[in-house]
Order: sequence, then C-alpha cells, then structure tokens
Amino acid sequence: MDVSRIGFGEDAHRLESGRPLVLGGLEIPESPVGAAAHSDGDVLLHALCDALLSAYGLGDIGQYFPPSNPNYAGLASQVILQTVQEHLVDAAGDPEVVNVAGVVTLDRPKLGPHRVDIQRTVAELLAIEPSRVGLGFKTSEGLAPRHVQARVTVLLRDRDGGT
Ligand code: C5P
Ligand code: MG
Repeated sequence: MDVSRIGFGEDAHRLESGRPLVLGGLEIPESPVGAAAHSDGDVLLHALCDALLSAYGLGDIGQYFPPSNPNYAGLASQVILQTVQEHLVDAAGDPEVVNVAGVVTLDRPKLGPHRVDIQRTVAELLAIEPSRVGLGFKTSEGLAPRHVQARVTVLLRDRDGGT
C-alpha cells in the first residue's frame, strides 16, 4: 500500500530596487524590484524546499544553508533544491512528488503572464509534468507593497510503500 506525506513551506523577502525578481527559477524581467536576500531570494523555490523537507520531518533549509554562512552568499536556489532532493533520497528513499500547490503574494508586477513558464520551470526541476504544479498569485491589496511571499504544499508518495 502506498504511503503519502504532505509537506508545507513558506518564505518571504523584502523587495528592493536594482535586484532581479526570481520566482520558481525564472527571472521576471519587467519587475523593477527584486528580493533583498542572501541567495537569489527565490521565495517560491525556498518555500518548495521547506515543504519537501517538512514532509519527512527533516527541518528546513536554514539548517542546511545557514544565512550566517558567507559561503552561501549568492547561492542559486536550484542548487538548494538539488541538495534538498539529495537529502530526500538519503533520508526518505527518494519519494515521488505527486503534486505541488503554491501561492505567491506580490502586489506588482502581475505574474499571470508568467504562470505557464514558472509552472514548467518548477516541473522540470522536480522531474514531473507541469499539470502537477498548481500556482496561484495574489496581491496583498496594498498592505505589503515591498514584500514577496510564497506558500507551498506538496504531496509525496513513498515509492516502496513506506514504513
Ligand atoms: O489579490 P487579488 O485577488 O486582487 O488578485 C487578483 C488576481 O490577479 C489574482 O487572482 C491573480 O490571477 C492576479 N495576480 C497576478 N499577479 C500578481 C497578483 C495577482 O497575476 N502579482
Ligand atoms: Mg482578491
């Protein structure tokens, strides 16, 4: 019998001028602001990483990549995700990602025009079909105009039936 696990993750960053806005591994070229962050500030991939780890009680990415460590400055979030995937192989026997559902909260720019591209990029990173990546976008209704946030849930399934 298959054993499934749910995971949940969240991340937020302050937005600043002169920084690229990267979401799900994709740069949003028309954004005049981007996340002020130690890494590339990709809140969607960071929330996804925490969701994957949480499903197996493996903590969060801060444990593996402490922001206080200067070696991790400018680290691409794809590298963080790769490391998380390796931990899942070691600690959880390489579970299958059934689906991913995420919400990004950002006042501007509109992300709708990039939905398909972000979906495809995230799906490629997880080696799943784009239809298994659901993405919603919301504004903060002006309450947090210099803020970008992502919340992600994942469903994982043990390939061997689990314990
Ligand atoms: O937050 P609000 O309900 O006003 O968002 C309305 C719609 O605008 C969303 O459902 C979404 O389709 C779109 N949106 C977007 N990009 C954002 C925020 C919202 O495409 N950054
Ligand atoms: Mg609304």
